[in-house]
Amino acid sequence: MKNITVIKFGGSLTKNKEAQKKFIQELAQISQKQKIVLVHGGGPEINKFLNRLNIESKFVNGLRYTDEQTLEVVEMVLSGKVNKMLTAELIACGIKAVGISAKDGSIAVCDVKKELGFVGEPTKINISLIENLINGGFFPVISSVGIDKTAHALNINADTLATNIAIEFKADKLIFLTDVAGVLDKNKNTIKEIKITEVDDLIKSEIITGGMIPKINSCKQAVLKGVKEVYIIDGVSGIKQFNGTVIKKQ
Ligand SMILES: Nc1ncnc2c1ncn2[C@@H]1O[C@H](COP(=O)(O)OP(=O)(O)OP(=O)(O)O)[C@@H](O)[C@H]1O
Ligand SMILES: [Mg+2]
Repeated sequence: MKNITVIKFGGSLTKNKEAQKKFIQELAQISQKQKIVLVHGGGPEINKFLNRLNIESKFVNGLRYTDEQTLEVVEMVLSGKVNKMLTAELIACGIKAVGISAKDGSIAVCDVKKELGFVGEPTKINISLIENLINGGFFPVISSVGIDKTAHALNINADTLATNIAIEFKADKLIFLTDVAGVLDKNKNTIKEIKITEVDDLIKSEIITGGMIPKINSCKQAVLKGVKEVYIIDGVSGIKQFNGTVIKKQ
């Protein structure tokens, strides 16, 4: 399928209702002309519900450990609350949005990353359900819950999922919308352009930390595997007013 844009909506943006509303309106406009696949995370909403249910968060090297109880909450929040909220908001803008998870149609079949519990690393991406939706005039909204070979749910980093889907589609564009103006340098200024050869140093020197690590590594993967344009942009400024970082091969 040609001319696909994959957009990853950062869960970090669900904290900012204004930004979310603007994003949905822009997306509704852009989707009239472009074929879009929307993938989303939902970190802050997951944290909120884990706190409400008094489930303790465990971390391994700064990454959340997903035990059985946490996985239940992750799936309910991502595939239930966040996915249905984004889908409904798009429908309210006149878009034929359909909310699914990466479990549906076995979109992301994963191996388990044992050190993190029920966290999946996609090994096979099946895009036929997504293609069928697009061909039918629907707008796919995909939560980052995948499946293993025994059909058990797995929590996938949404950046990783968006990237794997973009690679499988040979997408023209992969856009990560997040709560910062792209990748920032040590003085908190946006780095306008990053070459993939610079990524490891930015991580080693701890300029890039936390949630930006899987994001920049995902960008590098996408560029290496042929996605033509890869961006990390500020979701608060929106998609139209580009404010962020472009990741290039050279
Ligand atoms: N050099 C950097 N430039 C910009 N942000 C950075 C940098 N290093 C670390 N970060 C952190 O990365 C965060 C973005 O990643 P995060 O995983 O929190 O959001 P997200 O991926 O948009 O949301 P979600 O993971 O819920 O889908 C920023 O809010 C910032 O705190
Ligand atoms: Mg993240």
